[in-house]
Amino acid sequence: MALETQTKTVVGQFDYSDEDVNKGVVEFLRQMAEGLEKDGASMSQIPTYVTAVPNGTEKGLYMAVDLGGTNFRVCSIQLNGDTTFRLTYTKVAIPRELMVAKTAEELFAFLAKQVEIFLRTHHGEHFEAHIRRRMTMSSPEGFKDENVFRLGFTFSFPVQQLGINKGTLIRWTKGFDIPDAVGKDVCALLQTEIDKLHLPVKVAALVNDTVGTLMARSYSSPGKSGAILGAIFGTGTNGAYVEKLSNIKKPLAGEYDNSTGEMVINTEWGSFDNQLKVLPNTPWDVQLDLATPNPGIQMYEKRVSGMYLGEILRLTVIDLLKNPDVALFKDDNSSYNDWKSTTNIAEHSPIYKQWGLDTSVLSVAAADSTPELSILRQELEANLHIYAPSLEDAQAFKAIAGAIGRRAARLSAVAIAAIVLQTGKLNDPEQDEPIDIGVDGSLVEHYPYFRDMIYEALRAIKGIGEEGAKRIRIGIAKDGSGVGAALIALVAARMEKSTSTADFISDLRLNAKKTDLTAVPEDSELAAGE
Ligand code: GLC
Repeated sequence: MALETQTKTVVGQFDYSDEDVNKGVVEFLRQMAEGLEKDGASMSQIPTYVTAVPNGTEKGLYMAVDLGGTNFRVCSIQLNGDTTFRLTYTKVAIPRELMVAKTAEELFAFLAKQVEIFLRTHHGEHFEAHIRRRMTMSSPEGFKDENVFRLGFTFSFPVQQLGINKGTLIRWTKGFDIPDAVGKDVCALLQTEIDKLHLPVKVAALVNDTVGTLMARSYSSPGKSGAILGAIFGTGTNGAYVEKLSNIKKPLAGEYDNSTGEMVINTEWGSFDNQLKVLPNTPWDVQLDLATPNPGIQMYEKRVSGMYLGEILRLTVIDLLKNPDVALFKDDNSSYNDWKSTTNIAEHSPIYKQWGLDTSVLSVAAADSTPELSILRQELEANLHIYAPSLEDAQAFKAIAGAIGRRAARLSAVAIAAIVLQTGKLNDPEQDEPIDIGVDGSLVEHYPYFRDMIYEALRAIKGIGEEGAKRIRIGIAKDGSGVGAALIALVAARMEKSTSTADFISDLRLNAKKTDLTAVPEDSELAAGE
């Protein structure tokens, strides 16, 4: 009984009511405005200067790399000049020690090495030809710029963008901590390591994953108007949206084309409400934050994204285990254990290790609706080494995990709602199409009913309601970040020409009618538009 009561208490602490959601939206809008007014606000609201467009006639090979959190991805796009292309994609896990390396060089050397491996594996001929040209120094051809791959760099951390391929790291997030890199131009860091390997690659564009997602979704989503928001709910969380230039009050350092009156803004909403004015704050949120390399920062992200949800759950479970009156995973009181075996937790169980619980456990818990919760119980045994958990144990675990996931989804609705309201699209008489939002990331893709829970919260928000929620279309833009970066790299060479973001989006959408980039197979080749 104590377990049930205690579980209810814990679940209650993760409750995030409709009233809380509404308060959250008001504060989110306020902090968005603040970020548009001045640098150094909680939400950085970074202008992206995205202005150029592809026209489908480009020929050649473009590359994109994506450093986002858990994995590093490399891809290339062969443009055939007739709007068709061939896409090749690989990914590699980033060694944990490199995330906290002593110098930036260590990490970026690893990234450059992956680019080299990718080139040798997938573009061997081009690569060999380049090496041959380099050796025949007398040949003027050896220095031709068109023999160099243009690369779009998706770098999914807060960056002060100074130009299309220039930006300095503001701070690390998502467990990365290499102080040496802060304040440095990440494109230059990558280019230096690429040059050390003599690779025929030029870092041509710097893109946040949310911006890539917004671009990719804009051309692939049905309808004539583009997406208003690209958002990531994965290891981290963030969103990029289309803002009116007149609302950007802080000075814009770089050059930009103002003909559309709009610019894509990278919100860096992971740091929404670092002050904790409206964010919920349980004892486990506090504990989690203190154990991260960046306490007090990314406070919204720490309640929403995949990197942290497993750890919040782990901390609550540990607290319950410590409580002698609560019979969680203890057989003394698990006398009803229908598996008729003694519950025990292995000493080496990941439940005892920081970051030991992967967020996928929350997904398993949420997905298991069998009466005996047998799938979850098997998961507890196989991955957490908690043997013979009783039904009551599994029910408690599922309830708490569900409360953490639900709170994350409802918090996600706060950001989405605020951006929808900020764009004014719900009250725009010309907006006769759905308001389109592109999302990507493990959480929104794999956590059961994540989007449904977002919609449920949206319906409760003042200014949106039942009718408004129906007009909002949240669609997956799978691997949009990589694709978006490649497309921006593709046009980066044409940046001198003054073409607008709106043209960019509409041209991309035109191309998308002939191609399908929404599903990108890994480690394989896709001939698009065929
Ligand atoms: C973190 C990064 C942000 C990125 C997001 C999603 O919040 O700071 O730049 O977009 O994770 O990957």
